Amino acid sequence: MAPKITVIGTGYLGATHAAAMAELGFEVLGLDVVPEKIELLSSGRVPMYEPGLEDLLRRHVAGIDGATGRLRFTTSYEEVADFGDVHFVCVNTPQKHGEYACDMSYVDSAVESLAPLLRRPALVVGKSTVPVGSAARLAARLLELAPAGEAAELAWNPEFLREGFAVQDTLHPDRIVVGVTSKQAEKQLREVYASPIGEGSPFVVTDFPTAELVKTSANSFLATKISFINAMAEVCEAADGDVVKLAEAIGHDERIGKKFLRAGIGFGGGCLPKDIRAFMARAGELGADQALTFLREVDSINMRRRGHMVELAREAVGGSFLGKRVAVLGAAFKPDSDDVRDSPALNVAGQIHLQGAQVTVYDPKGMENARALFPTLGYAPSALDAARGAHAVLHLTEWREFRDLDPQEVGAVVDERRILDGRNALDPQVWREADWTYRALGRPRI
Ligand SMILES: NC(=O)c1ccc[n+]([C@@H]2O[C@H](COP(=O)([O-])OP(=O)(O)OC[C@H]3O[C@@H](n4cnc5c(N)ncnc54)[C@H](O)[C@@H]3O)[C@@H](O)[C@H]2O)c1
Repeated sequence: MAPKITVIGTGYLGATHAAAMAELGFEVLGLDVVPEKIELLSSGRVPMYEPGLEDLLRRHVAGIDGATGRLRFTTSYEEVADFGDVHFVCVNTPQKHGEYACDMSYVDSAVESLAPLLRRPALVVGKSTVPVGSAARLAARLLELAPAGEAAELAWNPEFLREGFAVQDTLHPDRIVVGVTSKQAEKQLREVYASPIGEGSPFVVTDFPTAELVKTSANSFLATKISFINAMAEVCEAADGDVVKLAEAIGHDERIGKKFLRAGIGFGGGCLPKDIRAFMARAGELGADQALTFLREVDSINMRRRGHMVELAREAVGGSFLGKRVAVLGAAFKPDSDDVRDSPALNVAGQIHLQGAQVTVYDPKGMENARALFPTLGYAPSALDAARGAHAVLHLTEWREFRDLDPQEVGAVVDERRILDGRNALDPQVWREADWTYRALGRPRI
């Protein structure tokens, strides 16, 4: 019989995972500690914006007309423990307040809540991004707490989904990595992922520490690639070079590749920044801190870009923000998401506001989250409204909608035709032809 699946923590990762598991044909029970989230999900609505997720959810949530009914939600750990054969732990692992290290309290709490209720054989599968060594520690805790004893086992199965492509990435992952300590756990996970494995997704079996390290090293590599091109942008600015051309040219080398070489205001979000910091902190505990000192530089190049964007904007409006109006296009940390966690766009908007400008933000999906985090910024219902009367327009999250803007139309509502492209995603020629002063990070000033 197909294993019954539970998903503990139904945020960006968990809600997507739960809906995807139902799509793959499994009976799924999702759990969260926030009752409002469970209520929303149970009615077929998603508490965040993720393309395609609501449709997927509505195809499966019990009680929705025409749905398969394979997906349900609860706040009860008892129900989850009774129901599931395989329990995916998808709770958050944020940065600890005031330190670089990962806050494991949510994962620990999930395991402590579930384990004492496991009376029958179960595989608990961690998906959260955790410091290396956590799986071994949690496996020991599970053995201690679970009435089922050795029949309750742990595995670690890091997640690589990208927000904005979460549904696609979960249903068709580019690889599946499982850290296991038994053949039985591997067999069960092969069964769960039979569909993507059948489509050709590589299935990589490792020990616990390697599985944990795959995730943090992948994120460190991606962060490094972004900071590399942003460092090149800094040099281009000093030498009057063009980082966009440079990226295109080095990207033709297939050992380097074109992806993740777009210079701009850098990375943010709920993963990369906190993951590289947690990785450094953990390496320090293990006595391997020297191996990761380069990540400190990766982090500081990244944070420097935000400050640099503020400087460019100040320069653009004549040296002081006092009495100036600045339009900010974008609040989410990336397009096709409403996630504003550690968003470079909002960080820049906030700094400019603090320096005396009147800042008006527009984002296609992230407005509500942005307003909750930065209530003192101004918000407008459209890009055009945000731009009205502006002395400078800042393009800070590369939504398609912004690439499609008509420079003449925007030009008709601003006070000054000045645009700063923090993502190198607009076409400079089109804007310049419409009499805009266009500036971007790492590109020559014309
Ligand atoms: N968001 C991504 O793109 C992504 C991608 C890969 C990996 N990850 C990793 O996945 C994990 C989750 O990330 P997220 O972005 O989904 O976070 P999130 O904050 O959106 O979701 C976490 C959910 O867990 C719930 N939760 C907290 N404690 C709980 C508990 N004890 N029991 C049950 N539920 C609990 C929260 O209420 C929340 O709904 C993190 O470790 C993250 O690093 C995230």
